[in-house]
Amino acid sequence: MLRSQICRRTVNRMLASATHKQPSIGKYTGKPDPKTGKYTVSFIEGDGVGPEISKSVKDIFAAAKVPIVWESCPVTPLLVNGVTTIPEQAQESINRNLVALKGPLATPIGKGHRSMNLTLRKTFGLFANVRPAKSVEGFKTTYEDVDLVLIRENTEGEYAGIEHVIVPGVVQSIKLITREASERVIRYAYEYARAVGRPKLVVVHKSTIQRLADGLFVTVAKELAHEFPDIQLQTELIDNTVLNVVSNPSKYSDVVYVCPNLYGDILSDLNSGLSAGSLGLTPSGNIGHKVSIFEAVHGSAPDIAGQNKANPTALLLSSVMMLNHMGLFEHASKIEKAVLTTIAAGPESRTGDLAGSASTSSFTEAVISRL
Ligand code: NAI
Repeated sequence: MLRSQICRRTVNRMLASATHKQPSIGKYTGKPDPKTGKYTVSFIEGDGVGPEISKSVKDIFAAAKVPIVWESCPVTPLLVNGVTTIPEQAQESINRNLVALKGPLATPIGKGHRSMNLTLRKTFGLFANVRPAKSVEGFKTTYEDVDLVLIRENTEGEYAGIEHVIVPGVVQSIKLITREASERVIRYAYEYARAVGRPKLVVVHKSTIQRLADGLFVTVAKELAHEFPDIQLQTELIDNTVLNVVSNPSKYSDVVYVCPNLYGDILSDLNSGLSAGSLGLTPSGNIGHKVSIFEAVHGSAPDIAGQNKANPTALLLSSVMMLNHMGLFEHASKIEKAVLTTIAAGPESRTGDLAGSASTSSFTEAVISRL
């Protein structure tokens, strides 16, 4: 079979698997402006390469005539009584628009700030981090058929930030697991599995060691199972999951897996590596009951900032997730198809991180020509 035929087949398979259904938890409730028919979305362009990749998204959305008006939403961190806070104006914009697209934010080092990403999750109650990781045709990695969906608890676990020095040389870090936070993320994961037509939910844990903490997470998943008789529940120790997914990722193609915060952080990067060989292609959605924020998972890439070299794909695919979340399915599918076929077209249309020779702007033009 010709390589171009293989590319086409894989891209079609990826598009066919895109979902048009949404879980009822965390559902977008925004409405378009009745006068213009357009939705307003808050846009946190971010730091480093953020403005360059954000321009790419804006240019492609304008060319695709997506009915969205962007509201610029800078989130320079503020320290209020020693606590990292996002500016009032940004909070007001995101609470009003109910949805935001976010570029990478650099964490200032040595200024007493907590990570802005953590601050955003806390501020807006973004309890679930959804990370799909799919093979991208045209960029060869170890496996060609990766199609993984991981949902990470986003608010507690080891990220609760509860640490003490007990005596010099002895520190204690507390992993916080609550029934309330476990229940909302696991219920969301069940609903997500049902909405996207994946028949199995795998709960990843280490309750053999973390008997109480991970034990509670697993117990909650079992308690909720009767509400979802169509979804098969499986529990799996994290070390087994890591071995299985690295040995044979296709085993998880009909699965949604859900895990406490730190395991989710590590596993989701592993999935990105398996699917695309890098974080530069991986989108994500942070879901809350009221507000959701979609973001590229990579950082601000200060080493290439301002050089027209950054790959905008992760932010573009995050914007595609956002459009699906908003119910704008046709626009989502058109942009996704244009991005994936541009990557599949060859090294001259890919950016340097994918061993290509395109710049951010020439990649953007190539995507626009395929809309
Ligand atoms: P990074 O992801 O910014 O960079 C790691 C490597 O990947 C660099 O070589 C960079 O050039 C490359 N890279 C990243 N995104 C790329 C893109 N779109 N196109 C091409 N190459 C790309 O990670 P790093 O250097 O550890 O962090 C830099 C800053 O970003 C830090 O201040 C960190 O706190 C912040 N950060 C923010 C995140 C977010 O906002 N979600 C996530 C991770 C880091």
